Amino acid sequence: MPDPSSLVKPSMNPSVKPSINLVDPALYSHGDPFEQWRWLRAHDPVHWHEPSELPGFWSLTRYHDIRTAYRDAEAFSSAQGILLRPAEHGADPGGGRTLALTDAPRHKQLRGLVDGWFAVRSVRALEAEMRDIARGVVDRALESGSCDFVADVAARVPLYVICKMMGVPESDWEYLYDLTSQAFAAGDPATRRFAHLNILGYFETLAAEKADEPGDDLVSVLATAELDGEPLSADDVILNCDNLLVGGTENTRIAASGGMLTFLERPEQWAALREDPSLLPSAVEEVLRWTSTATHIMRTATRPTEIHGRRIEAGDRVVFWLPSANRDETVFEDPDVFDVRRTPNRHLSLGFGEHFCLGSMLAKVELRLLYAELLERGVHVEQDGEAKLLDSIVVNGPQTLPVRLKAA
Ligand code: HEM
Repeated sequence: MPDPSSLVKPSMNPSVKPSINLVDPALYSHGDPFEQWRWLRAHDPVHWHEPSELPGFWSLTRYHDIRTAYRDAEAFSSAQGILLRPAEHGADPGGGRTLALTDAPRHKQLRGLVDGWFAVRSVRALEAEMRDIARGVVDRALESGSCDFVADVAARVPLYVICKMMGVPESDWEYLYDLTSQAFAAGDPATRRFAHLNILGYFETLAAEKADEPGDDLVSVLATAELDGEPLSADDVILNCDNLLVGGTENTRIAASGGMLTFLERPEQWAALREDPSLLPSAVEEVLRWTSTATHIMRTATRPTEIHGRRIEAGDRVVFWLPSANRDETVFEDPDVFDVRRTPNRHLSLGFGEHFCLGSMLAKVELRLLYAELLERGVHVEQDGEAKLLDSIVVNGPQTLPVRLKAA
């Protein structure tokens, strides 16, 4: 998305109504969604979006409204899906089965199986290995000189880390890297679907092996788990593996590269980090707020509710626009300024409430280690062509970011 600080003044005026269409993917690659969000926050915070090829839905754009809805997971269910999808695609296959797409009590049980793996202590124990992974990735990028920061740097760190945690043999990491790259790539939907089916197939085989011979890894945990005295079905195991792999890679890859692009556009912010590395934790929070890569998250109302006088009926879809919440002028001072020193910074980029991102700690450490690797080694990163932004209403940020890396 273009940097709002570079936009001409008239579009910043929230009293001029822009035409509202938040479901056009091109808006996120070539347009300015912030203009629409700014207007909606000021004038129509509970906006009804008419059906298109997508079903109709309510849009929440204010920080506090989104937090309040997030807090009430009973009234706002995840089990019918958390992303808008065309009616013709039918129900989400993970609905009621995966961690992200279940409600209490099933959600709590599933989360209890895996959350220890993502706790502070566990992530800390992995830190040395994660640093080695980040170092190896930067070494390779330095050797080639010119590369795509998204594919060659940002994508590899989280993918290798989650593969390691899931017990994927190292010899298969590149195979899964290729499949996830194809599954997330813009372009031919058939190629994407085929890659995704291959990911599911891969985990079907791996989970069967781990069920027979469990190891100390996440796939073994899921493959041998029992809930209410019943093992998880083979499909539930595979879909939850997929949820972990996709959750563990897609957003981190885009946030790391969106952050790098932001630093390239604001060299003084990168220089501030180089001078004072103790700013890295607050810089990572600001990268998360600024990039806000999960564009929307959906819930389905389970009972009638009223927000700002608008009546939401049971069964209605309610969409939270997280980048809008993260630029809410009633919460953040100078919300359209990127500031590595920003504090407090209670952004909603990782969600909120019961479904708060399972991998939040992991993602923050991955971002910190990757940027630290570049900063500590004095690697010079230079943009080497125009960044291409993703054409998607689900995730936003760079699809490609050509750079040249030079050792100090
Ligand atoms: C910058 C990186 C990341 C961002 C921006 C991000 C964003 C989010 C958001 C917004 C949610 C909430 C979804 C909802 O409200 O329904 C979420 C949930 C989740 N995230 Fe992340 N995520 C990131 C990294 C990760 C990583 C590294 C993992 C590792 C496995 C992960 C795994 C998950 C899972 C499994 C859930 C579902 C949790 C639940 O429903 O209980 N995420 N993430």
